[in-house]
Amino acid sequence: MTGRGVATIPEADSRNLDLERAAGAVTARYEAANPASRAHYERAQESLPGGNTRTGMFYTPFPLAIVTAAGATVTDVDGHTYTDFAGDFSAGLYGHSHPAIREAVLATLDGGMAFGSTSPYEARLAALVCARFPSIERVRFTTSGTEANLLALSTARAATGKDAIMVFEGGYHGGTIYFGRGSAPINVPFPFLIAPYNDPDEAQRLIRENAHCLAAVLVEPLQGASGGIPASAGFLEALREACSAHDVLLIFDEVMTSRLARDGRQGQLGIVPDMTTLGKYIGGGFSCGAFGGPAEIMKVYDPARPDAFVHHGTFNNNVFMLNAGAAGLEKVFTPRVQAALNAAGDALRDALNGLAARHGAPFQATGLGSLMNLHLQREPIRSIRDIAPRDPHLRQLLHLDLIDKGFFTTRRGYITLSLAIAEPDRAGLVEAVDDFLTRHGHLLAAAAGE
Ligand SMILES: Cc1ncc(COP(=O)(O)O)c(C=O)c1O
Repeated sequence: MTGRGVATIPEADSRNLDLERAAGAVTARYEAANPASRAHYERAQESLPGGNTRTGMFYTPFPLAIVTAAGATVTDVDGHTYTDFAGDFSAGLYGHSHPAIREAVLATLDGGMAFGSTSPYEARLAALVCARFPSIERVRFTTSGTEANLLALSTARAATGKDAIMVFEGGYHGGTIYFGRGSAPINVPFPFLIAPYNDPDEAQRLIRENAHCLAAVLVEPLQGASGGIPASAGFLEALREACSAHDVLLIFDEVMTSRLARDGRQGQLGIVPDMTTLGKYIGGGFSCGAFGGPAEIMKVYDPARPDAFVHHGTFNNNVFMLNAGAAGLEKVFTPRVQAALNAAGDALRDALNGLAARHGAPFQATGLGSLMNLHLQREPIRSIRDIAPRDPHLRQLLHLDLIDKGFFTTRRGYITLSLAIAEPDRAGLVEAVDDFLTRHGHLLAAAAGE
């Protein structure tokens, strides 16, 4: 396979190079091929710290500046077009400008926006969400998944009269609710109790011992940001059991995992949380979050009640989000389409793991269905504790090598499939990874101490 980098700068064949020089070679190709992205990065730093307003978009030496997107592709300011395997970190489920979403957006534009009023559109999307998730009898919308989680947590604290929240190592619930390696410095100042992920006995013990102060347990059924790590059914069942026994609300953050089935990961496993948070694709690609649960819990948001909680939010009922989201759920993301997307994701993950076995490389793809993550190790990963520290040059090498081959992924190896990705796209990615493992596999082995 030949890459798209500048011809005078040779593709790195690290069979003759150490890690630093291999990463240096692929970086030099990247820099030479992307002068306009670099110029954009330098200019952007004059008004944005680090040149961006979304930390996950940054990677060294500078990120590509994407200017247009269509179907399964994104195009950068230097004119390169890539197959988009980032899928906007799972918000881009429908691909770029899906005809049904486009039609809904254009009709919305023609009908006007920012009514400063309720409209039939919010009840339409709400009904679609409630119909899909039996555990959500009533729902409220927000402008982000972060906000949905903040409101779910605050609701649980008010409903139980207790303060503390149990979360898990590696959990990501938004920019201010993040527990990658401990609690992030800009987290909201709730009393968080951080438990190990996928350890049912320890979680049950902590819930039991802290039941007097614990309002809620907040858990991702698959940790997305920390590496596509699925929770075991036993772990989630243990949480359900302990929460029920100790009057603690169980909140499933299905901002990412809701795409795995019509009724989300909770439906796949048959485990019913007390509250659920949603986001990403639910708004058809527009800013969106949602939190919901039983009518009995959610009734505190009925403004006609004298004891109602105020839940304002200028853009909670943004008509673009409501109509694009409804078009997607009604017309596009049917159970059949959902099942096919999962199957495509499973097949891709199997193919990538097959490559790792064939090359004997410390490499694996984790995840479920269309959500996955590439890791540079062979040991199984059940929690962030299992993710082996690796020289960051390795991730840079893989990421920039895939970009060089025309595949837009993420620095941390996170991949989500959109509905626009077709079989040849997936086969192309497998071929690119095969080529990567051929040229650089021994560096992975050396980094793993093999
Ligand atoms: C599981 C999970 N929860 C919450 C969020 C936060 O959503 P948002 O970025 O819309 O605030 C994310 C975003 O990646 C997420 O993956």
